Amino acid sequence: MSRPVVLDVDTGVDDACALLFAATHPDLDLRAVTCVGGNAGLDDVVRNTLTVLDAAGRADVPVARGAARPLLEEPVDARHVHGQDGMGDLDWPASTRRTDPRHAVELLRDVFAAAVDDPVTLVTLAPMTNIALLLRTFPDVAGGIREIVFMGGAAAVGNATASAEFNVLHDPEAAAITLDAAAALGIPLTMYGLDVFYEPRVSRAQAATLIAGGHARAELAGRLIEFQCDRFDNDSATIGDAGAVCAVVDRGALLTELLPVRVELGGSWSRGRTVVDRRSWAGDMSHDPHGLAPVSVDVALAVDGPRYASLWFETVGSR
Ligand code: RIB
Ligand code: CA
Repeated sequence: MSRPVVLDVDTGVDDACALLFAATHPDLDLRAVTCVGGNAGLDDVVRNTLTVLDAAGRADVPVARGAARPLLEEPVDARHVHGQDGMGDLDWPASTRRTDPRHAVELLRDVFAAAVDDPVTLVTLAPMTNIALLLRTFPDVAGGIREIVFMGGAAAVGNATASAEFNVLHDPEAAAITLDAAAALGIPLTMYGLDVFYEPRVSRAQAATLIAGGHARAELAGRLIEFQCDRFDNDSATIGDAGAVCAVVDRGALLTELLPVRVELGGSWSRGRTVVDRRSWAGDMSHDPHGLAPVSVDVALAVDGPRYASLWFETVGSR
């Protein structure tokens, strides 16, 4: 029985890797994709998303435009990572397909409102602006959401700053609202953060195999990996966001712990940090002037990286 999923993306090289996987794996029923500004501007994100779904032979999946900018922050892109067009500057033929006429929040509302009998897993791979807007505007759709798996934050390291991960830093208020609303609405949260994000890696040689695979999906997948190997001068590259989708298919490869999590909204150097509380002594926690964070999240602390890398490689390369 395939698991219904929706992806919220800022396509992006690794979002593209995630889309190719989600569009192809037989255990996943990709119902919709929503776009938000992040790695690149919203127009680039939408064009890239439609193009990737075309390459995967999935022009049946509705794609909607969402928020072009964060709730409060000024938008800052990640073209230094993902290239000028946001997807590796591969000159891949752009899709001519149009987006769904609804706003992303409306498409999400309609998908979840219709899914009460078989709730949908929401996988967010981008700044959480669309999700915060959805949960605050249409809280009644919560019954159609099985869980939220979000690529964002970290228990330990940062990437966009020394303290914060890009998706959360891009829109910290949206991340905080999403966690608060999901907890209040009883939607389980899983955080696929930087502590595991870089572990599932595909080699340059495997990318060459995909490129020679003889079909668009495999070739695009290989070129996305090859772009990252070149960009970071490495013989392998992370599948990034795609790991969060692998977690929906193969949760057993992920070690998670249910932990209190807050999003830092102040802080000169820590804004956008996910403050993951890993303390174990009750004495410390009972004397904490802040009190425990009210929201508990299943935080991914370790992953069998090669297992997800193989899962992704076999899936996107399959005939
Ligand atoms: O920090 C990594 C995240 O930021 C990934 O989702 C990547 O696509 C970028 O959006
Ligand atoms: Ca992303």
